[in-house]
Amino acid sequence: MQVRALVALLALTMAITLGVSLTHDAQPQPAVAASAQPVGTSADAASRERDGGGAEAAETADLATDEPDSASTESARGGKVYEQRAVDCRKRKCVALTFDDGPGLDTPRLLKVLARTKTRATFFLVGQMVKARPGSARQIVRRGHEVGVHTMGHPDLTRLSDAWVRWQLQQTKRLITRTTGVRPTLSRPPYGATGRRVLRIQGELGLSEVLWDVDTSDWKIRDARYVTRTGVQRAGRNSVILMHDIRPTTVDAVASMIRGLRRRGFTLVTVSELIGNPVPGRTYFDWRTPKRRVTKAGHTRTSVGAGDGRKRRRSAH
Ligand code: NI
Repeated sequence: MQVRALVALLALTMAITLGVSLTHDAQPQPAVAASAQPVGTSADAASRERDGGGAEAAETADLATDEPDSASTESARGGKVYEQRAVDCRKRKCVALTFDDGPGLDTPRLLKVLARTKTRATFFLVGQMVKARPGSARQIVRRGHEVGVHTMGHPDLTRLSDAWVRWQLQQTKRLITRTTGVRPTLSRPPYGATGRRVLRIQGELGLSEVLWDVDTSDWKIRDARYVTRTGVQRAGRNSVILMHDIRPTTVDAVASMIRGLRRRGFTLVTVSELIGNPVPGRTYFDWRTPKRRVTKAGHTRTSVGAGDGRKRRRSAH
């Protein structure tokens, strides 16, 4: 009897220890912590402030623009938040076109195509390019497109120290805010190279990580017809298509890609419109996830991914 009680006690202790360690493993990810909180609550705002928001507020205080909505948690930070249209991607078949690495020489031409076809897209801007072409960056925003962070100099963030990862992201975020008047909330790590550590730092800076599920390979195959076909054929409901507006062949491809996607019944939206309200520190549209699940909120849940130090499969951009 005593032995049996002892065994039972031992089993109970092990179960508790195991339970604690499992819970512990699941906790440290900022994505989990962030998604547990409703967006826009005071607790959320407080946590954002705590996560280094103070320094940023000081830096961008002089940039503060008119923000009539005092309820906005970000209003003190300068810059406006991207204005989403009311598109319900739970009811419609949505697709988001995304353009990385610009603004480039061909970006104005792309903007004309998008204007002519009444299409909104999302641009992940490189800081050095914004410095070189601030007018194009402003034009992107003025025409209703969304802008996100794609670092200052396009490094592989998984190879940098925490301090440098933070610098790359924060500098770009500030530069975009200063140049365009809109504060980005989205970020795409170059090459899609990320991990738990890079994701955590993005979250601390109020950024949601946006990857993709359709790679047009436009950086590699400089053929407009190929790019068009890949985008149109591979897109599924709520897909995010990866392209680069620094490639002339990509810009050549966009008009017919838009036509093809609309013919398939897709509504073209920006990334924030597709996600709903992106949660900082969470990753969206991970191409490695075999099956994406659209939640009630219209969010596409994806796994957080590889642990610290382990790099994801390296892709183009
Ligand atoms: Ni890139």
